[in-house]
Amino acid sequence: MNALIHAQHISKAYGLKSVLNDVSVILNPGERIGLVGANGAGKSTLLKIIAGEVPPDDGNVRVDPIVTLGYLPQVIVGYEDSTVRELLADADRDLRLLETRLRTLETDMTQSTGVHLESILAEYGELTEQFERRGGYDLEQRIAAVVRGLRIDHLPPDRLFGTLSGGERARLGLALLLLSAPDALLLDEPTNHLDSSSLNWLESYLAGFQGGMLVVSHDREFLNRTITIIVEIDEQTRSMKRYNGDYDTYAASKLREREQQQREYEAQQEEIAGLRLAVAETARSNRNYRSHTDSDKFVRNFKIAQHDTTVSKRVKSAEERLKRLEANKLPPPPIPLRFDPALNPEALRARLPIMATGIHKCYDGRMILDAVNLTIYPESRIALVGPNGAGKSTLLKILGCVDI
Ligand SMILES: Nc1ncnc2c1ncn2[C@@H]1O[C@H](COP(=O)(O)OP(=O)(O)OP(=O)(O)O)[C@@H](O)[C@H]1O
Ligand SMILES: [Mg+2]
Repeated sequence: MNALIHAQHISKAYGLKSVLNDVSVILNPGERIGLVGANGAGKSTLLKIIAGEVPPDDGNVRVDPIVTLGYLPQVIVGYEDSTVRELLADADRDLRLLETRLRTLETDMTQSTGVHLESILAEYGELTEQFERRGGYDLEQRIAAVVRGLRIDHLPPDRLFGTLSGGERARLGLALLLLSAPDALLLDEPTNHLDSSSLNWLESYLAGFQGGMLVVSHDREFLNRTITIIVEIDEQTRSMKRYNGDYDTYAASKLREREQQQREYEAQQEEIAGLRLAVAETARSNRNYRSHTDSDKFVRNFKIAQHDTTVSKRVKSAEERLKRLEANKLPPPPIPLRFDPALNPEALRARLPIMATGIHKCYDGRMILDAVNLTIYPESRIALVGPNGAGKSTLLKILGCVDI
């Protein structure tokens, strides 16, 4: 069975900064890989390289020639001036073109013979297989399911992409990608901005997706429900490691690795300290020994010489071991990120940091916020929730006095 994607020995640097260092990833049919790593680790860069949007400095990417890749970038750009209607009309263009080509070949078949007919039949067979694999025969039902599931039918067809809310853009971007019916999905943070109903729909859609997928996400629950392999880009080494299982299994393996690293680090630190002490103490006791007196000068010198040889052997071997350990010092495990806000709510006691009353907001005559009242007390910890397009970001912009 051919791999859908074979990315080998990929390295990439921006200026002097190494982003990916000799990473390889193989995506086989039906595999669901979650790509994880700290912010800036190089996840988006790797997806861009596989999608052919950015060239690697080293290494190569092989995509099975019969495979169509669907790539959802982390930030969707380039659609700002297109309307929702135009974008949707274009989404399934590939499959429509394929269908038209199949109809043409069917007509040609009836009028051809011999070698020509054979070549038409060969192309027809190949394209039919592709059309079927990509769901061309139930295209209409699929379009309806995607449009309903991501509530694209709620978006005004004449609205420009650039004026949609973050969540509306995310939903439309996903819909455009899924409508193009690719064999393999490269998804860069697909759940960012999605409200809970769109997220649930996406999870069930992906559960039924037959092709392979490589998904970047910081959403642990989404990864647990969607993928079966975790590939991690290590922030320090810029290389990659593969863990079979969901996110929780990966997190448990990481914890065990971390504890093991801590134990090895502590054992080495202890050994280094012990050796340093031994070297220093032996040297001191040697000095004491040399100053001891013996009435017989010959016996005394003989004893000292014998003692010197044993001591210098012991010191030498301890020094050599110490040197070896210091040259291969194990690093301590990285310190886990802690959030330690400097904010002191006491200083705000008896004040009202924000009080908003009777907030109204319309866009193009469409009511977004209607008489919203909100008071934020020093101890308030508020989660602002609501479906995509409900006006959450708009309210925050108003509270932050941003021009909108
Ligand atoms: N075009 C570019 N020019 C210069 N530096 C870049 C460019 N694109 C990315 N970088 C840098 O390369 C590093 C990796 O970026 P990348 O977007 O791949 O990270 P990421 O793992 O996707 O992070 P995040 O989790 O924040 O999305 C970052 O330090 C980033 O600033
Ligand atoms: Mg990214």
